[in-house]
Amino acid sequence: MKSALIVYFSSTGNTQKVALAIKEGLEKESVAVDLKTPQEAADADFDGYDLICVGSPSIEWQPAKPMADLLKAKLNLYRSQGKIKPCAPKVPGQNALVFVTYSGPHTGIEEATPAGKTMRQYFEHFGFTVVGEWYIPSEFHGRLDMSTLGRLGDLRGKPSADELAKIKKDAEQIAKSLL
Ligand SMILES: Cc1cc2nc3c(=O)[nH]c(=O)nc-3n(C[C@H](O)[C@H](O)[C@H](O)COP(=O)(O)O)c2cc1C
Repeated sequence: MKSALIVYFSSTGNTQKVALAIKEGLEKESVAVDLKTPQEAADADFDGYDLICVGSPSIEWQPAKPMADLLKAKLNLYRSQGKIKPCAPKVPGQNALVFVTYSGPHTGIEEATPAGKTMRQYFEHFGFTVVGEWYIPSEFHGRLDMSTLGRLGDLRGKPSADELAKIKKDAEQIAKSLL
């Protein structure tokens, strides 16, 4: 049986919704899924899974601090174990999926890609194959102006049920690709 670890940070629920949709999709294809916060994942062994999914909101166009701290700690661990190598050779069977929720009120997706690319870069360094880098426009809870007047238009209610269903389907495809 294939296994996955989903680590996500969420302060207003958007990233959690996406994490749960990914979990449903993976489980539909019989992948055993552990779901953790960055704090809970501090001792998790990334090497023990076929797929690591990491999700964060974009916070000032970077991963949220708990996620950034976790990934930095894992980098330090991998480095101490001699696993950070020149040319970052791929480790067979180790895959990662990166997902970012964001509101893009000022400059649109440009506010999310730095967060996603930063998370991705850790896994590239670890030698994981990054199977996806997803950006999900989401409501800026508590900020009506940022949810309605920004570059991405009206984000209220996003991610919607339809968008979450699509995320679930996409996760099913990733699960199939692991087999
Ligand atoms: C303090 C703070 C800073 C944020 N900075 C950005 C940002 O730079 N770019 C962006 O697109 N969205 C930004 N957002 C919006 C969040 O990324 C977005 O609403 C996200 O979906 C929240 O995820 P969560 O509900 O899982 O916490 C910010 C939100 C907060 C609260």
